[in-house]
Amino acid sequence: MNYNLLKGKKGIIFGALDHDSIAWKVAERAHSEGATFTLSNTPLALRFGEINELAEKTGSTIIMADATSVEDLEKVIGQSMEILGGKIDFILHSIGMSMNVRKGRKYDDLDYDYYHKTLDVSAISFHKTLQVARKLDAINDWGSVIALSYVAAQRTLFRYNDMADAKAMLESIARSFGYIYGRDKKIRVNTISQSPTLTTAGKGVKGIDSLIDFTERMSPLGNATADECADYCVVMFSDLTKKVTMQNLYHDGGFSSMGMSYRAMKMYNKSIEHAIEEGEITFDD
Ligand SMILES: NC(=O)c1ccc[n+]([C@@H]2O[C@H](COP(=O)([O-])OP(=O)(O)OC[C@H]3O[C@@H](n4cnc5c(N)ncnc54)[C@H](O)[C@@H]3O)[C@@H](O)[C@H]2O)c1
Repeated sequence: MNYNLLKGKKGIIFGALDHDSIAWKVAERAHSEGATFTLSNTPLALRFGEINELAEKTGSTIIMADATSVEDLEKVIGQSMEILGGKIDFILHSIGMSMNVRKGRKYDDLDYDYYHKTLDVSAISFHKTLQVARKLDAINDWGSVIALSYVAAQRTLFRYNDMADAKAMLESIARSFGYIYGRDKKIRVNTISQSPTLTTAGKGVKGIDSLIDFTERMSPLGNATADECADYCVVMFSDLTKKVTMQNLYHDGGFSSMGMSYRAMKMYNKSIEHAIEEGEITFDD
């Protein structure tokens, strides 16, 4: 169902890599709601070639950028204004990467060069995007900027590693910049904290399948899909949420407010019974 929520709105969508990417779904949804936008990703991502299909489908131009480079961001935002014919209304930052996670470095044995890279790619790039946009006066009043976060910013989740620190920083940047941008230009800055989702980045976290099963059992509404995240992003880019800013908005079927659910408890009990039968643990363990 389309509501024309973004009719006449212009934007930039960072981070569509393939059909599974959350940014891919946002681009498709924003297009169907009447928005026009540019797409941006790294040269490496562009070599995979799938983004061309999205560009064609949505009538978008692709602009290459490493989001850690201020120069590249100036190019993306400047060229987007030229291509789209003036100031823009929304930006999606859907970017994340940890070499420590990729290389299996544990949190108490981090490689610090990788750690800096994690923070730069996954969090500081959001600050850089906002700062460049503001300096170029690229966003219309009442515009909306969204970055994607994860509940590991607030609660420790096994194996999420240094990405948890990046997400905590990302959410803090949304608050700090949201104040300045809101005060001066009425521009909204928020993060959406999404359920675990099977994307290229998601699959990089070892054990994501078990985590997805656990959060599904724990969430009264079930996990939120990438398509549902796209719906939420569209609402946040629309004029229906003009006074929402500096928030971390959970989009997780209720997971973040749960302690234990009946469905998760049932599965936990089954595993305990199984482990006792197998002699792996006793009642005293
Ligand atoms: N998948 C999940 O479980 C989940 C849950 C909550 C939040 N998120 C967040 O959603 C966002 C999008 O991830 P996704 O799950 O769609 O995975 P994805 O792998 O499809 O997207 C990650 C994107 O980041 C881009 N990227 C990496 N380094 C970059 C750089 N230097 N400059 C520009 N772009 C760069 C990649 O090319 C890719 O397009 C990330 O911030 C991720 O942390 C994901």
